[in-house]
Amino acid sequence: MKNVFVSPSIMTADFLHLGEEIAKVEQSGAPWLHLDVMDGSFVPNISFGPKVISDIRKGCGLFLDVHLMVIEPDHLLKAFAEAGSDCLTVHLEACKDLKRTLETIKSLGIQCGISIKPATSVSDVVPYLDIVDQILVMSVEPGFGGQKFMPASVDKVRELAQTRGDRKYLINIDGGISLSNIEILKQAGADAVVAGSSFFNSTDQKDFVRRMSQR
Ligand code: DX5
Ligand code: ZN
Repeated sequence: MKNVFVSPSIMTADFLHLGEEIAKVEQSGAPWLHLDVMDGSFVPNISFGPKVISDIRKGCGLFLDVHLMVIEPDHLLKAFAEAGSDCLTVHLEACKDLKRTLETIKSLGIQCGISIKPATSVSDVVPYLDIVDQILVMSVEPGFGGQKFMPASVDKVRELAQTRGDRKYLINIDGGISLSNIEILKQAGADAVVAGSSFFNSTDQKDFVRRMSQR
């Protein structure tokens, strides 16, 4: 089995020193960088948009794992793709025509993903599993870093792993993930994990990433 991709989320980073914070992620050995885009409407918080991602892209070689917490994001997809996103993950609950949204992302030449909130079932994403590169299971209510992990999300990871068959999608999980729950997520079949506060509060980020990613 392959190692788990660790995707540090910059929501917990110090935005005054964002360049240095991202350099820490690169030095830690984490292969992905998780970028939380919040619109103040789908979630009760606002973060940043394509300009910030494009500036990050110029100085960062990591896989940019962009999580769009945005209602009806279609009119923004081109801007986020041109900013240098490697994967755009949209929320199932935020898109009226999810298939069209996913196809638009694919037509922009990058990967696409679907995220589901804690109350949404895995059965709701099944019709799209042939199209997506990633399913992002939320293990907190989206909107803020530093929340408590919801254990019911482990069953969703397991269900997605059991349902996969020959399909290629990666199972990613986001919210409250740390060394205290990583083992159960690995066992359930997670391919990638988002780590915000647990990464930035860690005193040895290299060791943290090694322990989080090793099977
Ligand atoms: C929540 C975000 C997460 C969050 C992760 O809406 O999608 O990516 O910032 O932070 P932690 O790991 O602290 O829960
Ligand atoms: Zn996220």
